[in-house]
Amino acid sequence: MKIITHPDHIQSWCLEQRCSGARLALVPTMGFFHEGHLSLMRWARERADLLVVSLFVNPTQFGPREDLKRYPRAPERDAELAGEVGADVLFMPQAEEMFPEGHATWVEVPQLSRGLCAVNRPEHFRGVATVVTKLFTLTMPTLAVFGEKDWQQLAVIRRITRDLHLPVKIHGRPTVRESDGLAMSSRNVHLSDQERAQAATIHRGLRHVADLVASGETDSSFLLSALGEMYAQEMPLGRVEYLAMVDPDQLYPVEEVGDSILLAVAVRFSNARLIDNILISAKK
Ligand code: PAJ
Repeated sequence: MKIITHPDHIQSWCLEQRCSGARLALVPTMGFFHEGHLSLMRWARERADLLVVSLFVNPTQFGPREDLKRYPRAPERDAELAGEVGADVLFMPQAEEMFPEGHATWVEVPQLSRGLCAVNRPEHFRGVATVVTKLFTLTMPTLAVFGEKDWQQLAVIRRITRDLHLPVKIHGRPTVRESDGLAMSSRNVHLSDQERAQAATIHRGLRHVADLVASGETDSSFLLSALGEMYAQEMPLGRVEYLAMVDPDQLYPVEEVGDSILLAVAVRFSNARLIDNILISAKK
């Protein structure tokens, strides 16, 4: 596996590969790999001739009081793991090269960047949208793979790709979970043992709501308050940031569970903010 650190070098390498007819897959990441990241890489590996993994802790998607400095990092271990799953190139740029002084161009999708995570992270999706667009223009992938755990992020990226006619096919993949249901996340290392035990309630609560819907309940305010009560009782160390039932594509709030609805949550523990979601259908 090649390691490339300079944006110009990855761009010329990828251009050369595309010109010689290779199908190229991109998996963008911020590193500290877990099985969720690796599952995206394995899936992408099987669908392209070459796999490029990017590892860049993007400063522009962290707010001023967020955990950029504390974001977990293990670049050597990550390089080893990416090599093991068959990545051809690991692109690890420096922040000064991705966002040099004077960088002034931003990609924004305001319509999808107001609710859910954007309420408490107002500039987050602008940072994500911009860096992902830059990664696309640097690597020119045929396809790119993202996790459904970050559903709003995936919706934003799909919209950019559609609106800007970017020649890349976006694939969303299911959330990989620990055995007790907690969604894998690089930030899980910041949970204390007690918080870690309680964090399993996040997904259990989502499943509970899906069961209530399956038994005929469709009123989202009733469902959300049932979920809020369960979290308050079983997860006292977590502070709920939001609980929302939204249209899966447009992300606007929905009052009745129809064909398909996204239930999305964010919970803050002392040193980690965790998100999760589940797609629920009222039709059996
Ligand atoms: P990061 O949090 O490192 O995640 C990289 C990719 O892995 C994203 O597509 C994310 O949705 C996916 N992922 C994370 N946890 C997962 C899990 N448990 N199961 C399946 N997939 C999972 O998301 C980012 O980085 C950044 O915002 C990025 C897109 C790289 C832009 O900077």
